Amino acid sequence: MLEGTKDRVAPESDRSTRAVRVSEIFSRVLKRVKPAKPEVAEERAFARKIIKRLHEAIPHDIGVELVGSIAKDTHLKGDRDVDIFLLFPKGTSREDLVKKGLDYAKKALKPGEKWQVGYAEHPYLKAEIEGYEVELVPCYKIREIMDKASSADRSPLHCRYVLEFLTEAECDEVRLLKAFLKRHGVYGAEVRTEGFSGYLCELLIIEFRKFETLLREAAAWGGVPVLDPENHHADKEALRAKFPLASMIAIDPVDPDRNVAAAVSADSLARFMLAARAFIKNPSEEHFIMKKEEVGAAGLERLRKKFEARGTRLIALEFKAPEVIEDVLWPQLRKAANNFATRLEEKGFRLFDSGYWSDEKICLMLFEFEVAELPAIQKVLGPDVKHAKACEDFANAHKKALAGPWVEGGRMAAAEPREWRRAVDLVEEITGHPAKYGIPSHIAKAITGFERLEPSTLFSEKYSEFMLKYVEKKEILSA
Ligand code: CTP
Ligand code: MG
Repeated sequence: MLEGTKDRVAPESDRSTRAVRVSEIFSRVLKRVKPAKPEVAEERAFARKIIKRLHEAIPHDIGVELVGSIAKDTHLKGDRDVDIFLLFPKGTSREDLVKKGLDYAKKALKPGEKWQVGYAEHPYLKAEIEGYEVELVPCYKIREIMDKASSADRSPLHCRYVLEFLTEAECDEVRLLKAFLKRHGVYGAEVRTEGFSGYLCELLIIEFRKFETLLREAAAWGGVPVLDPENHHADKEALRAKFPLASMIAIDPVDPDRNVAAAVSADSLARFMLAARAFIKNPSEEHFIMKKEEVGAAGLERLRKKFEARGTRLIALEFKAPEVIEDVLWPQLRKAANNFATRLEEKGFRLFDSGYWSDEKICLMLFEFEVAELPAIQKVLGPDVKHAKACEDFANAHKKALAGPWVEGGRMAAAEPREWRRAVDLVEEITGHPAKYGIPSHIAKAITGFERLEPSTLFSEKYSEFMLKYVEKKEILSA
C-alpha cells in the first residue's frame, strides 16, 4: 500500500454533483482515447497475421507471443504499436538469441516493408508494416523470474500478471491515467521523458483500482512513494534503502529485485503530483487534451518580444546531431548542457536558465544569462584567520595580487585578475576542448562543428515548439 490521506468530507450534494461532472469528463476523454471496437478488431487481426507469418517461417520450438498494451487492452487510440516477442528455449546462447532473433524476425517481413534494428539490452527488430510500428523482440522463454537471462524475458510475465489482475473496467482507468500523464509530459520510461511506463500505469491501477483514487493519493504523497503489490518485501524503509536513488519505487510483482518506477525522475513525479492536485481542485478535460500549439508568425513575434523584454543575454549553439540512438543522445545532451552550466557558474557567470533540444538531425543548446560579462577584477576569499598555516599559504599565493591580502569577516581575502570575463569566451573554450570539460563523447565530437545562432533566428518555425516551451514554461495547469 502507498502512503496517502483520506478524502476531506464534503456535503453529500456537492459530492454527487462533482462525481457526475468527473464521470462525464472521464467518459468524454475515453471516447477520444479508447480505441473503438472495429479499431481493436483490426489491430488484433493484424497482430494475428504477423504471428502467423512468424510461425510459418521459424522453428516450432520458438514461441511467439503478443505482449505490450494491445495484448493487455490498455493501449491508447491511434498508437499502432505492436509488441511481439520471440521466445527462445532457455539453453540458447545469447549470441544465437540475438542473431537468430533478428533473422527470424525478418522472416515476418514482406519485400519492401521497412525495418531497422533497435537496441535495448540486446538488439531487436523495429518494422513498419501497414502503418503499424511492429517491435519484434527476442527473449528467453521462462516460467520463473529466477530463470531470467535478459531483461526482455520479463515482458511476457508482465503481460500474464496484468491479464490476471486488471479487470476489463480497469483497463479504461489505465487509459485515463496514460492520457493524463501524456498530457502532462510524463508518460514513457525513455530517458528523454523520465516518466511513467505503461506497465507502471497498470500496476498503479491494480493497486488503487480507480484513476481518481490514485490522483487523490498522489496529491498527498510525501517522500518517496513505495508500491509493492505482491508484498515481496517486509517494510518500506528497507525498500527505500535498497533503492536509495529512486524518486519512486514500485516493486515488480514478477521480479522482487526490480523497481518498475526506476525511470521516474523527481521532476516527473512532482509534475504528476501537481497535476493530480490541480485536477482534484478543478476537474477538467483540459488535463487530457494534448495541445499542439501552432505558433504562427504573429505568435513567434510576440514570443520574441516577450523574450527580449526579459533583458537577459542568450548564447545559442547549434550542431549536427550525432548518429546515435535516442537513449544515448538525450542523456548525453542533458549531461553536456549541465556541464556547460556548472562551468559557467563556477567562473562567476549567473545563469537565468538553460535548455537543450534535438529533432535528431540537429541539436540545440541554450544558455540564458542574468550576468554574462564580469569585471576584470575578482575577489578571492581565503581561510579563516584562525588557521595560521593556511593563512600563510594564502598570503604567499597572493603576493602579486591586484589588491590585498586583507581581512574580511574574519577571513583572508585578495583581489586577482579574472580568468574569464565574457561567458561567450568560456563557451568557446569548452566547445574547443570538450573532453577536458567532461562533455560526453558523442556530443564532444559533434559540438566542434557548432554554429552560434543569433537569438532572433530562434524565433522561427523550425524551433517554435521548443521556444514556446522554453520561454513560457507553462507546464503546470493551474488549479
Ligand atoms: N517494459 C518494461 N519497462 C519499460 C519498458 C517496457 O517492463 N521501461 C516492458 C513491459 O512489459 C511492457 C513491454 O515491455 O508491457 C512493452 O513496452 P512498451 O511498448 O513500452 O509498453 P506498453 O505496456 O506496450 O505500453 P504502451 O501503451 O505505451 O505501448
Ligand atoms: Mg507497447
